[in-house]
Amino acid sequence: MAIKRIGVLTGGGDCPGLNAVIRAVVKKALHDHQWEVLGIHDGYDGLMHRRAKKLSASAVSNILSIGGTILGTSNTANPFDYARRVRGKLIKEDRSKEAMANVRKWKLDALVAIGGDGTLSIANGLRKLGLPVVGIPKTIDNDLEETDMTFGHDTAVQIISDAIDRLHTTAQSHHRVMVVEVMGRYAGWLALRGGLAGGGDIILIPEIPFHMEAVIAEIHRRRREGKRFSIVVVAEGATERGKGYVISKHLEESPDPIRLGGIAHQVADAIETKTGISSRPVVLGHLQRGGTPTAFDRDLATRFGVTAVDLLAEGRFGEMAALRGASVRGVPIDRAVRRLKKVPRNHPLVRAARSLGTSFGDEK
Ligand code: F6P
Repeated sequence: MAIKRIGVLTGGGDCPGLNAVIRAVVKKALHDHQWEVLGIHDGYDGLMHRRAKKLSASAVSNILSIGGTILGTSNTANPFDYARRVRGKLIKEDRSKEAMANVRKWKLDALVAIGGDGTLSIANGLRKLGLPVVGIPKTIDNDLEETDMTFGHDTAVQIISDAIDRLHTTAQSHHRVMVVEVMGRYAGWLALRGGLAGGGDIILIPEIPFHMEAVIAEIHRRRREGKRFSIVVVAEGATERGKGYVISKHLEESPDPIRLGGIAHQVADAIETKTGISSRPVVLGHLQRGGTPTAFDRDLATRFGVTAVDLLAEGRFGEMAALRGASVRGVPIDRAVRRLKKVPRNHPLVRAARSLGTSFGDEK
């Protein structure tokens, strides 16, 4: 099949590096293949409502270093389970046939889907309906299987590490405990990497349920050693042993309706109540997804974009660009989305942190 025109969309939560990918896809497609590229607005929402614009080389000029996505995104639109409100009531319908009809109206020969597990699973569904697709793995959470790293993660880790540096000086001055809540959904990569880079004293991740007594014991132990402050880095998905996730809201229309959040307040309150030491929660929230991508993320995003176009040109539909060691190559999307990539309890970074005396709150 000769490709003449491709579509590109960004789905799910935004992250730094999305524009770098869009730029790479457009430049490479035009330069190497003279393909036309249609930028679809707001993820699958644009596909449902036929909102898109042709992307020329000048449309992607000067966007490499800019955060967010020039195309816009949606973390609710799913053509297979499309949510809309009728007289206040939420209904969900399979409207994938309409999505495919729009693909035909646009005369798209293939689609590049940039997103996390949700966006890539939908892309895989469209592939099964006959649309040639390739994927590019995006998420600050780094929770996608089959790739060593997603783009956006490195920038978020840098933001966390910078924030912890700033919290250190104020925690030290007030002899306080600062409890920093970071994102990551059900995986602890952001807390682990950001916590290690920022020198967090206690790191709490979803993969290692914690005992509040162990957290308190560690804070007391540090005091006995003359350290009158502590930094606790807690993943939004961390759980106290025997308890469930702390949930901030339910979004019915979203394919993943649970939004985590609030654990830092619980942990800080418990520490202050049980130790009498002044404790403050800090929730980094969407700051972790905003702003300029790091050089690492710009390079990775660019390599992913280039590889996605290569995969299309080679007819390797249903594959996703993935980082494996030092190289970027195609892997089946099916394998990347079948489960979340969580932190193994004996991961080298966990072992490294433990060997420095960092607590994961699981000591008896
Ligand atoms: O998946 C990226 C992410 O930022 C998660 O870390 C977080 O749990 C979630 O998205 C927040 O979603 P929203 O932008 O809908 O608040």
